[in-house]
Amino acid sequence: MIATEIKKGIYWVGAIDWGLRSFHGYTTSRGSTYNAYLIIDEKITLIDNVKVGFTEEIISRISSVIDPSKIDIIISNHGEPDHSGSLPAILKLAPNAKVYTAGPIGAKILKAQYGEMDLIPVKSGDKISIGKRNLIFNLAPMVHWPDNMVTYCPEEKILFSNDIFGQHFATSKRFDSEVDLALALEEAKQYYANIVLPYTKQANKINEVVKGLDIEMIANSHGVIWREHVSEILNLYDDLINSKKKEKAVVIYDSMWGNTKQMAQTIAETFRNLGIEVFLTRVDETPNSLLITEIMDSKYVAVGSSTLNNNMLPPIAGFLCYMKGLAPVNLKYISFGSYGWGGQSIEQVDNELKSMKLEQLLPPIKQYYTPSKEDLKNLEQQIINVFK
Ligand code: FEO
Repeated sequence: MIATEIKKGIYWVGAIDWGLRSFHGYTTSRGSTYNAYLIIDEKITLIDNVKVGFTEEIISRISSVIDPSKIDIIISNHGEPDHSGSLPAILKLAPNAKVYTAGPIGAKILKAQYGEMDLIPVKSGDKISIGKRNLIFNLAPMVHWPDNMVTYCPEEKILFSNDIFGQHFATSKRFDSEVDLALALEEAKQYYANIVLPYTKQANKINEVVKGLDIEMIANSHGVIWREHVSEILNLYDDLINSKKKEKAVVIYDSMWGNTKQMAQTIAETFRNLGIEVFLTRVDETPNSLLITEIMDSKYVAVGSSTLNNNMLPPIAGFLCYMKGLAPVNLKYISFGSYGWGGQSIEQVDNELKSMKLEQLLPPIKQYYTPSKEDLKNLEQQIINVFK
């Protein structure tokens, strides 16, 4: 396997995970890449590494440029195993390499996973010279782990951004200009919704730092490298960080005998008739990761569940658990559902949405068994009244 030169003397030496379909619950239908970068300078420098299982791939790519034992410096921008899993194997080959981590927490996280090792924690603004080039570190805690940081090379105008600006997108191409831009941006948006969204405040801080840098290339740790479309990805992050919303409603339901489905269809059609864009789905028809992406830029969400054994249906519970963790904001909600006996599911859904600090658009809408035409008309009217 060979490296790809991304700029004179700087190589992509990562791995392509074509078969990845789930990243702890995030459905990664296009797989992913684990990007690592090798800089040939007076000090041979490796920035990040790859997931266990791909160690042979990174070593092979490094070896296509230089003997791995010659690595002098390893930068660990982030300790999550997709970027640190090969560190022990690389250190065996280059035992004298100095490893720089994102502050003491970066060192702690690496040691907790791989055992005692000599590490050099850095802080924001620290700079090291690797020869003709310098590397400047900026810590980005909680985007999305306590130990994230970005590394900037001013001579090359490259930001090695690690997770931020990434996409779970396996491709044989390395650059944004070589793939469909809309697809790369869509994957970046999905990545934000599923990885960065709960840490938007922290993302804003590092985004402001990044905007102050002179950048020609963003060499992130997943997906394609931003080279031709740096301004597009920065603009997308601006919109996402500022929670830019559409007049859009996402209607999600699960239904035992089609009654809650009828309510969902009526709610969706009412929003549509009000001129509001709609995304309607039974919860198991769409992966949670796509649902949260749809919700992220919507103003409204409606969640419905029939009652089964005094509870909401398990697929709705799973979705709400996923949604809660990602903490979408500036969202108004409706809870609804049909029931035969207790009807506890509707209050349960409502309480879950309330606990996410979302704004209730209507009191919970409960339907006893099958909605009549009049019931559906009444449901429609309740929504229309809210927008009058
Ligand atoms: Fe791509 Fe947080 O690891």
